[in-house]
This record gives sequence, structure tokens and C-alpha cells, in this order.
Amino acid sequence: MCGIVGYIGTRQAGPLLIEGLRKLEYRGYDSAGIATVHDGAIEIRKDIGKIEAIEKKIGLSLAVGTIGIAHCRWATHGGVTQKNAHPHVSPKHQISLVHNGIIENFSELKKKLQSQGYAFQSETDTEVVAHLVDSLYAGSLKEAVQNAVVQLEGAYSLAVISAKEPGTLVATRNESPLIIGVGKGENFVASDVPAILAHTRKVVYLKNQEVVVLTATGVELFGKDGGKLKPETHTITWDEKKAEKGGYPHFMLKEIFEQPQVVTETIEGRIGEGRVTLEAAEQLGDVKRIIIVACGTSWHSGLIGEFMLEEVAKIPVEVEYASEFRYRDPIIEPGTLVLAISQSGETADTLAAMREAKKKGARVLAIVNALGSSIAREADSVIYTKAGPEIGVASTKAFVGQVIVLYLLTMFLGRKNGLLDEQQVRNRVRDLRLLPLQMQQILDEHDSVKTLAKKFAKKRNALYLGRGINYPIALEGALKLKEVSYVHAEGYPAAEMKHGPIALVDKEMPVVVVVTKDDRTYKKVLSNIQEVKARGGHIIAIASKGDTEIKRLANEVIYVPRNSYLLNPLLAVLPLQLLSYYAATARGFDPDKPKNLAKSVTVE
Ligand code: F6R
Repeated sequence: MCGIVGYIGTRQAGPLLIEGLRKLEYRGYDSAGIATVHDGAIEIRKDIGKIEAIEKKIGLSLAVGTIGIAHCRWATHGGVTQKNAHPHVSPKHQISLVHNGIIENFSELKKKLQSQGYAFQSETDTEVVAHLVDSLYAGSLKEAVQNAVVQLEGAYSLAVISAKEPGTLVATRNESPLIIGVGKGENFVASDVPAILAHTRKVVYLKNQEVVVLTATGVELFGKDGGKLKPETHTITWDEKKAEKGGYPHFMLKEIFEQPQVVTETIEGRIGEGRVTLEAAEQLGDVKRIIIVACGTSWHSGLIGEFMLEEVAKIPVEVEYASEFRYRDPIIEPGTLVLAISQSGETADTLAAMREAKKKGARVLAIVNALGSSIAREADSVIYTKAGPEIGVASTKAFVGQVIVLYLLTMFLGRKNGLLDEQQVRNRVRDLRLLPLQMQQILDEHDSVKTLAKKFAKKRNALYLGRGINYPIALEGALKLKEVSYVHAEGYPAAEMKHGPIALVDKEMPVVVVVTKDDRTYKKVLSNIQEVKARGGHIIAIASKGDTEIKRLANEVIYVPRNSYLLNPLLAVLPLQLLSYYAATARGFDPDKPKNLAKSVTVE
């Protein structure tokens, strides 16, 4: 949903900003641009396309000046055109800004500004803000921004500069993420940490409607009421290399390969002999019911969590699309725990669902990957998945981190409710410890998946089936395939096939069936496979090693090692992620930047 980066210091801003922007390209990549101040004037360079192509064409990084702002766009208001690309400018006071979010009252503001004589060059909501700041400018950029934001409705993070004040960069946010990077003799703003990590590890997380004034040597923070605040600095401990490709052709492949390590890091310090330690869960009190709110892939991990929590901890669980949850007037009784699951911690729908739940008195526990993100900050408590920065737009390793946390939480609550004894926890911990090795095995021996992906790349449709705890994996496999390779795919509970979708089956239709051996619906799924086979469908089974029965039924089998019933899904998902990745590359697409998508969906 757009990436912002800003710099003020003594070095040339252009190369620094573009380097930062490349790290944010996962947030939007339909256009990009930069504005700098030099010799009392604003220089703007912007165009449509990906950063690399624009850089080659017009040299974004060649913009001159030691102060600047840059942006990569995921279009909301106005098509993908050069004029709609950011930065936008208001000519009178030479004000330029970049924006991430949506200004909901932009048409009213636009009419008002037009009546004051402002002419609009673009169809964006952002240009309205540039003119609004300009109309309020009376010698102080900070005050103009402060006066402008009180008139704005909606979500925004903004970085603003003016040729009249070449030593000042002003930034603010409401509901869209923005961090400040505090350097030595230079300062930064950015939508996300990787953009500044090469230059500083000291960050300040801006709160809603705070305004920050950056100079080369200072960071001044002002609250919603205009009063001065003391910025609270946090130190980022991530390894910078984790936000780079490290020799892999794409982030998606790198992140798939990082998954064994994600398991290890997410469980580290949280499990011991016969016990699970989850600090954030200690204060939960009596949990009578759990509602999981999440979107997309995180919603799929929630579905797996539902199985785990109901089966082991015997707590009733509902899994809700965060985007639907608050429009249903949900019932929250005492003892209801809401689990908000999000990789980015910024998904607007999940944030809104979580706020609704809190308003109704629920306790909210967040499972989040991005440190210091809005969901992490607003929840009553948070358990971090330790997946590190996930840059590929299609979520892979964050999903694994989420399911692992759900498994830990299940054991924690199961033990707390007296449903698991020490030995049972010990056994489940043993299964968990085995997982990274088994995952590595799949990754080391995935040639058959590559071959299969080439065939898949020629197909127009695919069906993914699974039952029980493997049904969410069918959904996730289908989502991954469609989002990165643009092959239409649907995930179904295998038994539902006969109630309609089976009409689609013919010899052209690949049907991927997740059918691991320990699944209690195993035999039933074999019958479902027979039904598909009888109609000529081409069966690709994701099955447990040693399963010879499946070989007789399926046209192709991808074997995965066998773990426990609850953890097998994490093994089955790996070949499906790889299948999507290789299908995308075989079709000539960039899996890191699928069309129409963005990593962090900060609009509702
Ligand atoms: C799919 C994908 C999305 C996200 C969804 C939620 O590969 O990445 O479906 O899972 O947008 O995002 P988070 O987890 O950041 O809330």
C-alpha cells in the first residue's frame, strides 16, 4: 500500500532514498518518484513502472539535494499514470509530499481548494493534501502540516518538504505506518524498518496524529494537541542481511528456504522439558471462547489454529475474516479472547476488527511478525513470530511462524486447562523439534516439484482439496498459485466436491489433494480421490512418505516426511509454496511482485 522514505542530512539524498525505496518496493510497484530541494527549488522525478526500470529511464537517484522524499505506489485513487505518481507538488509555496493511505474526505477538500483557485494535475487524493498544506502555509511548514491534518479524514502517513524551508522535513501519520530513523547528522522517515537499516538501527515509532520535524541534527516530536513530546527511541536488532536476497533469485524462494530456521527461532526460549513459556499468555485469565480475526494467508493459519485449540485445549474457536467481523455486530461475552493474526501488523481490516473487539470488552492477543507495528502496539498482549522481515508479497515463512505460535499457544492453554500432562507436552515438543529437519529434507529434495510446476504452468485452472486440518492447506496452496502465477485455483474441502465443483473436473483439470497419513479423514479422502479419478481428473497427491496406497490412485505423488497429525500441515504446505513459485517463474512472472497486490494492505 505504497512505500515512503525521506532523508535529511549532509549526503546526497537521491541514492539513499532510492536504495531505501528498493527495500519498500514490496509495498507497491506501479510507479515511483522522488523530490529533493536544491538551490531554492523542488526537483521532481517520477514515472510509472518498477523502480529499476524508472531508475534506468530517468535516473531517480540523480535528483540533487541533501533533503528529499521518495515513494513507490500501489494505486488507490487514480489510475497508474505519471501524473498520479508521487511526489505531488503545490506550486505556490513549493510544497511537495508523498502519501501512503486514503484520504476519505478528499472530494470535499478538493472542491474547497478549487474554489480557492488551486488547479489539480492528478486524480489522486494525495494532491489535495499538498494543496491543503500550501493553502495553510504562513511561514512554518510544521504549522501548516499540523493545521492540515486536523482537516483530514482517513488513513495517511505523509512526508512533506518545501523549497522555502530546505532544512526541514515534516512527517505525520494516522493509521498508516511510519517510523523515524535517527542517525548521526542525518535523519530518516520510512514506512518500514528495512528502508533505513543500512544507516541506523535507532527508530522512533510515530503514533497516530503525531507530527515530527526532522532537521539534519534534530528530531522534534509533537502530540495531537501540538504539545512537545520526548521521542522514545528503540533499537532494531534484526540482521540487515535478512532483508536482502542472499543469493536467491527472488525473496519468495529465499523465504521458503528460511522456514526451518523460522521454526527454530520461533520456538527458541519458549519451550522446555514438558513446558511452554509464553509470557504474553500468562495474564489471559479464564479463556472460555476464542475468536480469531485475520485476512488471507493469516486467516488460513487461523483455521489451523482452530483445529489445534479445539482438539487439544478444548476451547471453542471461531475463525473470522477480519474484514467481515465488525459488520456483523459480533457477540463478545466475558471470557472471550480475540486472537488477531497478522504478518505486517498493519492490515487495516485486522486492526479495525481488533478495535471493535476491544470496544466490546474482549481481551486481544496479537500474533504478529513486524515488531512495533500498529496491531502489536494496540493489542493487550503480543506474541511475535520470529520470521524476520518478509519481503516477498506472497506470504510463506510468516505463515509457518504463525502456525508454530498457535501450536505453542495450544500447548500452553492445554496445560493450563489440565488437559495435557508434562509427558504429553514433552511428546509434542519432541514433534516440534523434529520439524525443521523434516522441512529441510523437503527443501533439499524438491526436484519433482520443479518438474511438476512446468506442467502446471501450462494449465489455466487447478483445484486443491484437503479435509480436516489439511483443508486450510488446500486453501493456502490455491491462494499461493493464483496470486503469483495467475493460474486460477480454488481450494475446497475434499468432500464438498461432490456438491458442485466436481462438475469442473475433466482430464485438463489438475487436482491437488493434500492427504497426509495421520489425518483422521485419510480413508475418506481416498474415496474423494476415487470420485475425481472416475471423472478423468489428474490427481497430484501431497502424501506421507511410505504411503504406497496413494501411489496406486494418484497420477503423481509428492511425498513429505511424517510428523504428528497437528504438524503435518506445515510439511504439506512447503511443496505447494514451491509449486506456485516455480509455476510463476516458468510463466515468466516475478513472484516477489505479483500484479495488483501489495504486501501491507493498509486500506479497508
Ligand atoms: C497472501 C498474503 C495475504 C496476507 C493478508 C494479510 O500470500 O500475503 O493474503 O496474508 O493480506 O496480511 P497480514 O498477515 O500482514 O495481516
